[in-house]
Amino acid sequence: MHMRSLGITSLLLTTLILAATAQKKPPADVEKILQKHACLACHQIETRLVGPAYQEVAKKKYKPEQIVALIHKPDPSHWPGYPPMAPMPQVPKEDALKIAKWINSLAAKKK
Ligand code: HEC
Repeated sequence: MHMRSLGITSLLLTTLILAATAQKKPPADVEKILQKHACLACHQIETRLVGPAYQEVAKKKYKPEQIVALIHKPDPSHWPGYPPMAPMPQVPKEDALKIAKWINSLAAKKK
């Protein structure tokens, strides 16, 4: 009986770990920027968190410059049903541009 519940527990754990690693990961340099600005606290790549998944953002087909502008000054009307994102003007433009290009690359790959 004990052995059996242990088996179920480890099966569950394995499933969880597999699910976690199945999430796409950004390239290291992009991930660093996302972490530095705490974007990942509200955004995941494939699933909705506080904010929309980056893959969903990619479907909007913004130009990278538009995404930079939206990071600095979000437009919550683009995302009905979500709380508004706080403006993040402190994110340097070149950081924001790297993130923007990476976000757009998610759409190209998913096709
Ligand atoms: C406190 C939570 C939070 C943090 C931190 C956060 N976001 Fe957001 N983000 C949101 C929410 C909620 C939305 C949807 C509502 C909105 O656009 O205002 C959003 C929307 C977006 C959009 C879509 C804009 C649009 O108009 O389509 C992009 C791009 C984005 N975030 C990028 C980022 C990046 C990059 C960072 C880090 C520099 C970041 N976010 C940090 C919550 C957050």
